[in-house]
Amino acid sequence: MGGPLSRSARSRFVLPRGVPFFVLLSGTILLLYKADTYISQNNIGARNNVEATQGRKFSRRIGNETRHATSNHTLSKVISNGTFDRNFEITWGDGRAKILNNGELLSLTLDKRSGSGFQSQHKYLFGKIDMQLKLVAGNSAGTVTAYYLSSEGSAHDEIDFEFLGNSSGDPYTLHTNVFSQGKGMREQQFFLWFDPTADFHTYSILWNPQCIIFSVDGTPIREFKNAESIGVPFPKNQPMRIYSSLWNAENWATRGGLVKTNWSGAPFTASYQNFSADACIWSSGASSCSSSSSSSNSSTKAWFTQRLDSAGLRRLKWVQKNHMVYNYCKDTMRFPGGLAPECKIS
Ligand SMILES: *[C@@H]1O[C@H](CO)[C@@H](O)[C@H](O)[C@H]1NC(C)=O
Ligand SMILES: *[C@@H]1O[C@H](CO)[C@@H](O)[C@H](O)[C@H]1NC(C)=O
Ligand SMILES: *[C@@H]1O[C@H](CO)[C@@H](O)[C@H](O)[C@H]1NC(C)=O
Ligand SMILES: *[C@@H]1O[C@H](CO)[C@@H](O)[C@H](O)[C@H]1NC(C)=O
Ligand SMILES: *[C@@H]1O[C@H](CO)[C@@H](O)[C@H](O)[C@H]1NC(C)=O
Ligand SMILES: *[C@@H]1O[C@H](CO)[C@@H](O)[C@H](O)[C@H]1NC(C)=O
Ligand SMILES: *[C@@H]1O[C@H](CO)[C@@H](O)[C@H](O)[C@H]1NC(C)=O
Repeated sequence: MGGPLSRSARSRFVLPRGVPFFVLLSGTILLLYKADTYISQNNIGARNNVEATQGRKFSRRIGNETRHATSNHTLSKVISNGTFDRNFEITWGDGRAKILNNGELLSLTLDKRSGSGFQSQHKYLFGKIDMQLKLVAGNSAGTVTAYYLSSEGSAHDEIDFEFLGNSSGDPYTLHTNVFSQGKGMREQQFFLWFDPTADFHTYSILWNPQCIIFSVDGTPIREFKNAESIGVPFPKNQPMRIYSSLWNAENWATRGGLVKTNWSGAPFTASYQNFSADACIWSSGASSCSSSSSSSNSSTKAWFTQRLDSAGLRRLKWVQKNHMVYNYCKDTMRFPGGLAPECKIS
């Protein structure tokens, strides 16, 4: 109980201190800021380990859902409509995660002993995935709600939303990242233009072979383009599950770890509703979004080839100008050897 969590917290806390790169940086504020980002990066590995370890303790529960994908290349459009009990399984937290309201609502809680988490039954290879989240309210400092897609293995792909809590009245940080073939370090962070704890808001990932678009309430906040033509691996071969967890990250989350979790506010709760995935399900080792199956074309075409249009680009620019608080593509101090190649084309 709590063992794996404290292990992850510890690795997150200790790891960056030994990294000479940070020692070279001048200025305490800068140091904390970079450390925050850098630690987040390292944490993802730790977090995945926690979930992988915890997840293994639970037997898989396969629902009665019709499999839309057949064993060979068949494209499927699946609308999974608010059905947490059919599409997800609770993987850890010893009763702290609950599926409520006939499977239409899921809640995760965190207290001093443990957090909790869930994952999707299916793996997906490309899709448009929407989820509504309502985050820990009040003094959420030290808490992190992670909601992400990830494949398995060391050279994994991953698409991340992470919500870093804050003291009452201070803004949440929405942290995003993209891993391809095990390499991340592509953080962008935002302050939202609304209070994400007051109501449910929709967080979406559009993932197709051309790009990954992160959106909030339909407003694109980030586009990660396929830049294979300039040698940047793009996540397109490894199917991913959806994961989410609420856990204690007081050693790094809020102001770089300066503000600790105040347990008098526990249990902390984050809620989920209205999941929808218009996506290709990975089944029996195969999935394809290019087949000639009858259900395939028209249904998936829209998102499968979607890019940001000019209106989307305008909104993206507005968010990035007014709400972005960190961009790895601008951080020349952190990458003295040069920014990532994809930064040139964004
Ligand atoms: C699942 O399917 C089986 C057989 O098709 C049926 O007996 C059972 O009641 C179903 N369970 C649910 C929860 O629908
Ligand atoms: C798909 O499955 C059918 C029947 O199960 C089989 O005959 C066919 O060869 C398979 N196609 C591919 C591309 O695997
Ligand atoms: C979701 O379910 C509701 C009723 O449960 C239904 O009215 C609605 O059409 C469904 N939406 C989709 C996109 O399937
Ligand atoms: C919390 O609020 C402070 C003050 O506005 C801000 O500097 C910080 O970035 C916020 N977020 C986190 C995760 O610390
Ligand atoms: C923790 O929160 C309680 C109220 O919920 C407050 O009285 C107390 O001062 C807080 N502790 C710290 C260290 O801020
Ligand atoms: C649920 O999501 C769908 C789109 O995915 C949206 O049209 C609908 O308004 C949402 N329902 C609620 C209650 O927000
Ligand atoms: C699927 O798309 C192909 C080419 O785009 C088209 O020729 C075919 O008629 C489509 N099939 C269906 C069922 O829409």
